[in-house]
Amino acid sequence: MRLDGKEIVITGGTDGIGKVTARELAKMGASVTIVARNATKAQQVVKELRTAAGHDRVGFVRADLSSQKGVRGAAETIRGRLKRLDVLINNAGAMFGRRELTEDGIERTFALNHLAYFLMTNLLLDMLKASAPSRIVNVSSAAHTGAKLNIDDLQGAKSYSGWRAYQRSKLANVYFTYELARRLSGSNVTVNCLHPGFVASRFGSNNGAVSRALFGVAKSIFATSEGNGARTSVYLASSPDVDGVTGKYFDSRRAVKSSAASHDEQKWRELWRASEKLTGIS
Ligand SMILES: NC(=O)c1ccc[n+]([C@@H]2O[C@H](COP(=O)([O-])OP(=O)(O)OC[C@H]3O[C@@H](n4cnc5c(N)ncnc54)[C@H](OP(=O)(O)O)[C@@H]3O)[C@@H](O)[C@H]2O)c1
Repeated sequence: MRLDGKEIVITGGTDGIGKVTARELAKMGASVTIVARNATKAQQVVKELRTAAGHDRVGFVRADLSSQKGVRGAAETIRGRLKRLDVLINNAGAMFGRRELTEDGIERTFALNHLAYFLMTNLLLDMLKASAPSRIVNVSSAAHTGAKLNIDDLQGAKSYSGWRAYQRSKLANVYFTYELARRLSGSNVTVNCLHPGFVASRFGSNNGAVSRALFGVAKSIFATSEGNGARTSVYLASSPDVDGVTGKYFDSRRAVKSSAASHDEQKWRELWRASEKLTGIS
């Protein structure tokens, strides 16, 4: 399959699942823009990806996505640099063992894993609409299963566990996808989310030696490769099989049922309103 002429933006394309996704899409001929926080690492990755793709239509925009100023700056640069936008892949995410606040005063997991998806998408939505048919792909996780979202305590202020906060943020990805699909009905912009599998990436390595060791053991036994982890993202970004398919949760390139809690439509709307308030978007 060829994607020549397509403009794709992916967050977190400097490592793990995002890097392989960016590489595979560039190899199909797409122009790929990575949103990355570390300019030195991004320059190296861009070089690698250009070599792998055999063309130079791979670039990066620098932004720390846990900062709303960072997301806004990246969106502005993308709007200035690209003439169209065919696919936006919200992929950058992490888990934080300790509760920390961002420069905006927001709990870091919620800020990076949900609010950055919400804000980046909304800031680029008119470009996606103008380029339709176009696609939004949100990397969620099967970790959303078992999570519940308390709209009055989205940031774990009352009690915090890194894993619970991560689970809630991944449920927020599913809520966001379903509500956005409802809002985009008839626009020819599709939005889907996915579970990439348990992937042997650097995920979980930012929380100290014990956590790193535990993740390391679990990954060596159970995890799949980053290449396998990228397959559903690549599929949703590129395959004609999913032309017009929207508002679904995918695993292993198949639409599957997300958790029972994720189908609470009132919660979709409540999260949307809370996210508007926290980002100042309407
Ligand atoms: N690995 C799994 O088993 C698994 C399972 C289910 C879902 N997921 C989801 O898959 C997505 C990708 O995870 P991964 O496994 O590929 O993780 P990873 O290897 O740790 O890569 C994460 C990517 O996000 C970037 N990133 C992190 N914080 C950022 C920030 N503040 N601003 C900008 N970029 C930032 C990283 O940049 P740097 O290169 O600068 O660190 C890196 O490019 C996440 O949304 C995660 O929740 C992963």
